[in-house]
Amino acid sequence: MKLLIINGPNLNMLGVREPEIYGSGTLAELEKLISDYCGRKNITAEFYQSNHEGDIVDSIQSAYKKADGIIINPAAYTHTSIAIPDALKAVGLPAVEVHISDISAREPYRRISYVSSACVATISGRHFSGYLDAVDILESRLKFS
Ligand code: DQA
Repeated sequence: MKLLIINGPNLNMLGVREPEIYGSGTLAELEKLISDYCGRKNITAEFYQSNHEGDIVDSIQSAYKKADGIIINPAAYTHTSIAIPDALKAVGLPAVEVHISDISAREPYRRISYVSSACVATISGRHFSGYLDAVDILESRLKFS
């Protein structure tokens, strides 16, 4: 089983960026946490981070027929992008949307997610563990498909 884990804009700044909201862990630490977790489950994890919407669309398209599922934190594009959910729908892979912070408890403009309509689940406010929950969701879904 192979999963593509995509992190959107400013998530390369984890550890530095608003640590009171996003914690003190870095993107490299997050990716290692996910990679170790997937390794124990015999799942291959591939990672991608970009600050650019079109590059994220390209990355989603690259998963077509290559990955079994997608975990995506679209970051600020969650609240603005139509192209990202369109790409997820186009490739037809099960995708889980993850947010480190609880987007329902922050500014009103963060309560809208255009991406969730293209995802089988949304996990918000579980910090880095949310990505591991997403692995579990895709694992059990793919096992029975
Ligand atoms: C985020 C929440 C978004 O609203 C924000 O723009 C981010 C990160 C999160 O992981 O909590 O960049 O997706």
